[in-house]
Amino acid sequence: MRTIAFVTQKGGAGKSTLASGVAAAARAAGERVFIIDLDPLQTLVTWAKTRHDPDLGVEYVPPAKLEKAIAALAKKGVTLVVLDAPGQGGEAAAAAIRAADLCIIPARPNAFDLWASDKTRAQMKAQGRDYAFLLNQCPPSQQSARVELGVKALEAIGGLLTPLVSARVDYQEAARLGLAVTEYNPEGVAAQEMKELWSSIKRRLKRAGAKPEKGATADKSAPAQKRAATPAPADPKSAPKKPARKAA
Ligand SMILES: Nc1ncnc2c1ncn2[C@@H]1O[C@H](COP(=O)(O)OP(=O)(O)O)[C@@H](O)[C@H]1O
Ligand SMILES: [Mg+2]
Repeated sequence: MRTIAFVTQKGGAGKSTLASGVAAAARAAGERVFIIDLDPLQTLVTWAKTRHDPDLGVEYVPPAKLEKAIAALAKKGVTLVVLDAPGQGGEAAAAAIRAADLCIIPARPNAFDLWASDKTRAQMKAQGRDYAFLLNQCPPSQQSARVELGVKALEAIGGLLTPLVSARVDYQEAARLGLAVTEYNPEGVAAQEMKELWSSIKRRLKRAGAKPEKGATADKSAPAQKRAATPAPADPKSAPKKPARKAA
C-alpha cells in the first residue's frame, strides 16, 4: 500500500480538488483507494456525502489517529491512501508529511503560492520526506510567461510532476455535483489531466520504492543536472506538453 499527501500551507491551491481527482483516476485504473480528510473543514467528507460511492471511502481522521487509521486500511487491502491536508500548517499537515510515501505540493503559478510552496518544501526536506511540486490552475493555453516562471521556480527547488493542471470549469462543476472530473466528463481534457497525473504519480512512487532508502528527497536522490537528464516517461500520453520540462 502507498500513501500520497496533498500538502501546502496555501489555502485554495487545489489540494482537495487534486486529491479527489487523483483518487478517482487511480480507482478507475484499478487501485483500491481510500481518502483521509485531515482538514477540520472536511471538504472531501462533504463531497463524499454528495456522491454516495461505497467504492471510494472518505473519512475525517484527526492527526493523532492517522498512523493507526493507515495501518487499518492496509490490513483491509486498500492499495492507495490519499491524504488531503488543511491549508494552514500545524499538526495535521505535519502528520500527513510523516505518513506519506510522496508529498505533493500544489501551487498556482503566482508569487504568493510559489513562496508558500518553498516554505512547505523546507518542512518536508527537514523531515527527509519525498516530495514533488504540481502546478495547478494554469491558463489552459499553458504558454504564458507566468506559467513559465512558475515551472522554472519549482524545478529549481525540486521536482515538478507532469502534467501542468489547467484552470477548467470541469473541476468546479464536478465538485459541485459530488463527482471527480473523470466521472463528470470522462472524455474531457480535465479528465485526461487527472489520468496523466495519476500515471505520473504512480511512476514516481515506483521509483521511490526502488530506492534503498525511503524518504530521500528529490534533491538528495540525484543532483539537479542528473535529474534533468532523466529519460522522458515511457507513456507518450504522459509526456510533458508545452512548455517542455523534466518530470519529477
Ligand atoms: N484546476 C482547477 N480549475 C478550476 N478550478 C479549480 C482548479 N483547482 C482548484 N480549483 C478551485 O479552486 C478552489 C480552491 O480549491 P481547493 O481544492 O478547495 O483548494 P485547497 O484544498 O488547497 O484549499 C475551489 O473552488 C476549486 O474548485
Ligand atoms: Mg482543501
